[in-house]
Amino acid sequence: MPTITVIGSVNLDIVAKAARLPAPGETITDAELHHFPGGKGANQALAAQRLGAHVSLIARVGEDSSADEALKLLREGGVDLTNCKAVPGAATGTALIAVAPTGENQIVVAPGANRTLQPNDFEPPGTDALICQLEVPVDTVAHAAKTFGGFFCVNLAPAKRIDVAVLQRADLVVVNETESAWYGNTLAACTGLIATTRGSGTATLQQGGDVISESTPPAVTAVDTTGAGDTFTAALTVALVEGQEPAEALRFACAAGAVATMRMGAQSSLPGRDEVDKYA
Ligand code: RIB
Repeated sequence: MPTITVIGSVNLDIVAKAARLPAPGETITDAELHHFPGGKGANQALAAQRLGAHVSLIARVGEDSSADEALKLLREGGVDLTNCKAVPGAATGTALIAVAPTGENQIVVAPGANRTLQPNDFEPPGTDALICQLEVPVDTVAHAAKTFGGFFCVNLAPAKRIDVAVLQRADLVVVNETESAWYGNTLAACTGLIATTRGSGTATLQQGGDVISESTPPAVTAVDTTGAGDTFTAALTVALVEGQEPAEALRFACAAGAVATMRMGAQSSLPGRDEVDKYA
């Protein structure tokens, strides 16, 4: 089984399941309130662990009660949290999420302690793979990309300006269609694989400007799409590092992402290997 390090965010997701998403300036009432562990880094770490990898997470939380809630499923799932440290005086990252009955969401993140993770806070990991996203400082991601020697995946979410060297270094770049449009021609700098997700639509894998594989996620009834992209990213990395062919790996990742939409919450909805294999 592959060893994977994730450098990324930990958030507590405060979720309101409502009859629909609000328009700007609108108030929607009668929502159901939930707290779920989240954060793109933490979600990707637990997703990879549930799919069979041995995962360690490098992250920062606050010294507050939200940290315990946010880290609960990672602890229970056996993710190595040795390098997930509490920062005195900082708040744990918090995501405010509205979810519609269709599973669509709107997310606003207050990063808190995630902002404090600095390039020299950790040694280059010795694992088979490293996964980063952009909810921690981009300089930290750039430093990790430069110093790490194994398979490097970067999920360019949320979309932010990033050093082109990160794109040139990445073996795998993952974007959704909104992020892909935001980055535009910048993605031409990528030398590795680019995976683009399109919700329930067809995902693609590109290399050198050519589409090398396409896969449509299995049809499922979505109740909450939060964390589906994180599950896809983790699953694609696990599959490629295991040595699966790109087409097979993309199908596996699409299935994993689809299954993650069938339950509420980010980490609470992450599938295990057997469940993904049934849908792949
Ligand atoms: O990708 C989903 C995640 O984005 C949520 O868990 C939320 O914390 C935000 O970081």
